[in-house]
Amino acid sequence: MAIRKIVVLGEDDVLRKHARKVDTFDKRLWTLLDDMADTMYEADGAGLAAPQVGILKRVVVVDVGEGLIELVNPEIIAAEGVQTCVEGCLSVPGKRGTVERPAKVRVHAQDRKGRHIEVEGEGFLAQAFCHELDHLDGVVYVDKMIEDVTDQYEED
Ligand code: NI
Repeated sequence: MAIRKIVVLGEDDVLRKHARKVDTFDKRLWTLLDDMADTMYEADGAGLAAPQVGILKRVVVVDVGEGLIELVNPEIIAAEGVQTCVEGCLSVPGKRGTVERPAKVRVHAQDRKGRHIEVEGEGFLAQAFCHELDHLDGVVYVDKMIEDVTDQYEED
């Protein structure tokens, strides 16, 4: 397990690329997942996508305080409702903005062994899934930002 360097937007165009589907569920993937979780917790984040550590694979980790969720090749298969969220991103340090997201989503993915799973999220968890999945397609929340609210929050 190791802490990886988080890519900052504007520093590296890896954040703007389309990540590739994972088809090998091996130790290399498990190390990536372990390192991503360590890196997310160390940075005090609620989610992290592989492109944020420079790896163009469809892999994300999320923890909104309810335990670690690992998603490989995730896809949103159902969404309902709308919520306006305040978001930040470990790749856009010191900034926050409002974004509209579905209130509830259902995600199909694979786990670290390649088994097919479905997870559901509401509220902050739905927000985190959407934010992290966007990273896999080169989308950063600032692209969807309604309003920059950085000034309303203390820098952490
Ligand atoms: Ni992000």
